[in-house]
Amino acid sequence: MSPQASGVEDRAPGANADLPSRRSALGLFAGAAVAAPATALAAGPALASDRPPAMTPAALADADLDLPSPSLRELAERRGLRIGTAIHDPAVFASPRYAAILAREFSIVSPENVMKWDTVEPEHGLADFTAAEHIFLPTAARNRQLVRGHNLVWHGQLPSWLSRTWTSAQLASFVQAHVTDEVTAFRGRIFAWDVINEPLNEDGTLATNIWSTAVGPDYIATALQWAHAADPHARLYINDFNLEAIGPKSDAMYALVKGLQQRGIPIHGVGFQGHLDVRFPFPSGMAENLQRFAALGIDVAVTEADVRMPLPVTPAQLATQTSYYSQMLSAYLTVPDPVSFTVWGFADAYSWVDGFFTGEGAATLFDKNLHPKPAYFALRDILTA
Ligand code: XIL
Repeated sequence: MSPQASGVEDRAPGANADLPSRRSALGLFAGAAVAAPATALAAGPALASDRPPAMTPAALADADLDLPSPSLRELAERRGLRIGTAIHDPAVFASPRYAAILAREFSIVSPENVMKWDTVEPEHGLADFTAAEHIFLPTAARNRQLVRGHNLVWHGQLPSWLSRTWTSAQLASFVQAHVTDEVTAFRGRIFAWDVINEPLNEDGTLATNIWSTAVGPDYIATALQWAHAADPHARLYINDFNLEAIGPKSDAMYALVKGLQQRGIPIHGVGFQGHLDVRFPFPSGMAENLQRFAALGIDVAVTEADVRMPLPVTPAQLATQTSYYSQMLSAYLTVPDPVSFTVWGFADAYSWVDGFFTGEGAATLFDKNLHPKPAYFALRDILTA
């Protein structure tokens, strides 16, 4: 079994004044309180700018979209789960059709980049959480979409000032402040946080990175505790790629979560990114794998699904892509209590894949003209069945 090469490098109690409990949040759109409390930023750290919120972009009328009814989000709602996407902020304004599909088809959203550390603290000590307030959060609120926060502790997309010479103690204090300040800034508006992103190597060993070095190998537990202290009601996840198959990496994640639970560390979910490639076999045992994680009593979510292919697109590759999307969702729906199935962008015109994987692309559910591809219809069929 070859893994899908990525190439990138408690059930919390429901009483939450700001966010619905997990069940009611998933079951209902009405009352899904994603609207921004006006005072949230005032309580945060010093802001570098006071960017005004964006104006409402133009969106096409539903009738002009020529998409089948019910939508993905409606079909998912009937099954008690949410269908999500990462939002590519520039596209919300560039394309009224993008904005309309985003609103119509998806009920939970992730910020593609605007909550990452390089965006929220470009200069040391000048935390600025307003990028997310500009387009991403108002869009989610308008569309009655829950929000997954992405992400807090990762080796990627770090601000350049972190690469200056610092002691381990300084770096540890920076990451603690970063987690605490960011979770606090968005408290009450984030359904689930990817607290830890991509902590494992392919062989299941803990990746050595700036945080495992500065804080120590137990940085995962420590960061989860920081996040929990800052927002006790957010569901806290570890998120990684190439976790879909049963194998050394998912075995290690399973052991990691179990160990955290035994120590009483707040860990509520595992995110399976789901970045697949038609050139590799579909991850073997995905359904059983997801089920064993669910049996730990945590949430299991697909967080970044896409299925890339070498360009140009061929009918055979498109068929494989459709099959892989279908198999991913089908595997996910075998979990007793599915939460959310999120794609990492829904439009080939705006996908991260083309910029990251030389010669590959066409990884999403809608083509370059934002017309639905076979995979979109296949996901509808699975949700309808
Ligand atoms: C990607 C974004 O989509 C790109 O725009 C950005 O340039 C790099 O990061 N795994 C993750 C995501 O957890 O944060 C990554 O997002 C894709 C891989």
